[in-house]
Amino acid sequence: MLFDRCRIGGIDAACPIVRSATFEGMADAQGYPTDKLAQMYERLADGGVGVMITGMMAVSTLEPRQHRQIRIDDDSCVAPLADMVRRVHGHGGKIVAQIVVMGSSIMMPEGEGRVIVSPSGVTEKLGKIEQESHALTTDEIARLTEDAGRAALRAKEAGFDGVQFHSAHGYLASKFLSPYFNRRDDEYGGSLENRARFLLECIASIRKHVGPEYPVWVKINSEDFMKEGGMTFDESLQVMEWLADAKVSAIEVSGGNMSSLPRKGPIRAIRRTKEPMYFVPYAEKAAAKLKGRTDVGVIGGFRQVGEIESCLANTDIAFVSLSRPLLRQPDLPKLWREGSTEPSTCISCSRCFGAEDVDCIFNKQEKA
Ligand SMILES: Cc1cc2nc3c(=O)[nH]c(=O)nc-3n(C[C@H](O)[C@H](O)[C@H](O)COP(=O)(O)O)c2cc1C
Ligand code: SF4
Repeated sequence: MLFDRCRIGGIDAACPIVRSATFEGMADAQGYPTDKLAQMYERLADGGVGVMITGMMAVSTLEPRQHRQIRIDDDSCVAPLADMVRRVHGHGGKIVAQIVVMGSSIMMPEGEGRVIVSPSGVTEKLGKIEQESHALTTDEIARLTEDAGRAALRAKEAGFDGVQFHSAHGYLASKFLSPYFNRRDDEYGGSLENRARFLLECIASIRKHVGPEYPVWVKINSEDFMKEGGMTFDESLQVMEWLADAKVSAIEVSGGNMSSLPRKGPIRAIRRTKEPMYFVPYAEKAAAKLKGRTDVGVIGGFRQVGEIESCLANTDIAFVSLSRPLLRQPDLPKLWREGSTEPSTCISCSRCFGAEDVDCIFNKQEKA
């Protein structure tokens, strides 16, 4: 049954509905959690979601952070994050820290001097902005993999129930996987094995720091859906195999990036595309292949409780994630548990995006 307790990705959860990582823009100017951020997670915990994944947290001072992004890049972050986690646990919630090496920045704080890093310095189009970047040296790559491991250890010390490494949506690990962004001719570029090296080294570093038992999750693209040069689904499946060999506890399947073909990005206007649950065909294949080795979950376009139930009942997929519906209605899982069969009132317009205090635009209007 959907609302029975279950174990997903090494975490004992109230149900297999996961709140996928959703950038909050609620850290203070120094990147520490605020009361508002903790309150938002307490509310999600009260709303009955099984596991919630934080918005992406910055792991390294080598690169810029997004405006109001949480950071986990030095030991001073542990105590304030531990306070937030304690509050969430006090409400019965389970919380995973999403950690990211950005390699991209849509919303940089003003006056930020550090440069964006990337596999090969390929210019990226972010809307009207042409984002230039610095091609990483192998010494810098080694520093970033170590920073990812240390950040994961800080998440463990702060009491998070697990970490998720972000390797989707065109952030750095995802760029390394993509032949379009990764044009290196050293051991980090060329063959798929080489392009996956950065991700697998980050995972190895995370495991080394947190030990064999701690839940380590990965979010990955099924495909990049680019006009040319993106990672394909066959390649992604092979990388997922390697991730299972590396003993990751769960893989959350997403897809797309800022350079994907129209309507093929990670966050789709499903009313317009008429394609709900858009990554299920990929996640279903991955879950069947990796059954018994790691838990495979799926994100993207779930709006109805019946869709979630049948996805879990008819496939090997272990959990279903939601992002925008839980911005609109943080208590949606609770409503469904209590018997509602109403779909989410989120209309997938994606107007919730913003640099700070991210919330559903309609909730903001209702509060005003
Ligand atoms: C406002 C907003 C912020 C997001 N921030 C993140 C993030 O920090 N990390 C991440 O992996 N995905 C992020 N996403 C993508 C979501 O996790 C999810 O993959 C996507 O919205 C599709 O799921 P949905 O149809 O349930 O919204 C964000 C999405 C939104 C709408
Ligand atoms: S702004 Fe639009 S997409 Fe975002 S939560 Fe609200 S209804 Fe959903």
